[in-house]
Amino acid sequence: MLKGSPLVMVPGPTPIARSIQDQMGRETISFNDPRFVAVFNSLIADMKSLWRCDGIVFIVAGSGTMAMEMGICNVAGTGENVLVCSNGHFGDRFIDICARKNFSLDTIKAQWGTSVTVDEIDKKLSEKKYSALVTTHIETSTGVELPLRQVAEMVRRKHPDVILVVDGVASAGASEFYMDWGIDVMLTCSQKGLGISPGLGIIWASQRAIDKRQSMPPISESYADFVKWIPVMKDTMQYWGTPSVNMIWALAEAIRIIKDEGLEERIKRHKLFSDAIRSSLSALGFRTGTEEALASPSVTVFFYPENPKIDDAAFRSAVYEEGAHIGGCLGVFAGKGFRIGHMGNITTGTLVTLIAAIERACIRCGYDVALGSGLAAMQKAIVSM
Ligand SMILES: Cc1ncc(COP(=O)(O)O)c(C=O)c1O
Repeated sequence: MLKGSPLVMVPGPTPIARSIQDQMGRETISFNDPRFVAVFNSLIADMKSLWRCDGIVFIVAGSGTMAMEMGICNVAGTGENVLVCSNGHFGDRFIDICARKNFSLDTIKAQWGTSVTVDEIDKKLSEKKYSALVTTHIETSTGVELPLRQVAEMVRRKHPDVILVVDGVASAGASEFYMDWGIDVMLTCSQKGLGISPGLGIIWASQRAIDKRQSMPPISESYADFVKWIPVMKDTMQYWGTPSVNMIWALAEAIRIIKDEGLEERIKRHKLFSDAIRSSLSALGFRTGTEEALASPSVTVFFYPENPKIDDAAFRSAVYEEGAHIGGCLGVFAGKGFRIGHMGNITTGTLVTLIAAIERACIRCGYDVALGSGLAAMQKAIVSM
């Protein structure tokens, strides 16, 4: 019984507001049309000021993985010591990206569902002189949020020469971070907390990161080279690679929505919704795959109960047919549960539809929950906060 198009509750892409869709559907104009140039320039200024970036923000066509490559290849060169901390699948992807460069690479890996700690990072950074530390703010495969502020402040205080590179793919627009905490490179993409379709990579680079790039010899990457893009990001009349005109309009609209809601308010909303979804699913007998203190505001992993045995594929397709598309688990967690993305421009109405679909799917899969119990727990969490 499929009722229209299901809600997109995977950890990206996320539901897209009508006004953002309208920007993507506009008639495309030239990237040096003054009407576009003005929007792009003011978007760049907004992105810098909202996330307190003293350097340059790069907005380029590509996915999050492209932004990861672009983030690291500009701040560490051949033979330099790089430390990558992984909390799961996407941290491991960063290890893979770095292993393909000629860095001298070290890694720290957390057990799935937990995070690498500030002390572990501090200890490792004390062992030798590292050029860069690479981490993931919110690990989408486990729903774990790294204590980023503490990491950034520790690195600045105790290892001031280290360039801190952070994967913020599942955090920008959903969780708090500011470049002036001591972050040098933060990267994200369009289809998660910002609430746009996939297609844009965004990299905030501190002045320290730009200085580092400018002190390096030419790098082997071309499209991803900061040096090629700096003139464009300073004056969008300049050309390097054709900007993704409609996606940039869409991002400008997404930022207008964020400013309208208020970035801090938006982050509070994400935390509230995340808490409400966890209360709700816990009332239905699902436990999370994440330590409570590390639960992210943007994505949560839920494990199936032991009894009765629930078939993963059958359950997720039942939820889909009942009106919500949720994600499967990855890696170590695959088959044990599912992932819900709860980020971007979603409302309490979205949560009601999601939880109701999950309740009906439980019944269809022979898991006899009391209809309305998940909704009631969600409602209580929302009104009590
Ligand atoms: C934390 C994190 N990093 C990187 C990526 C890769 O982004 P993309 O799939 O857009 O290349 C993802 C995708 O889900 C992610 O969640």
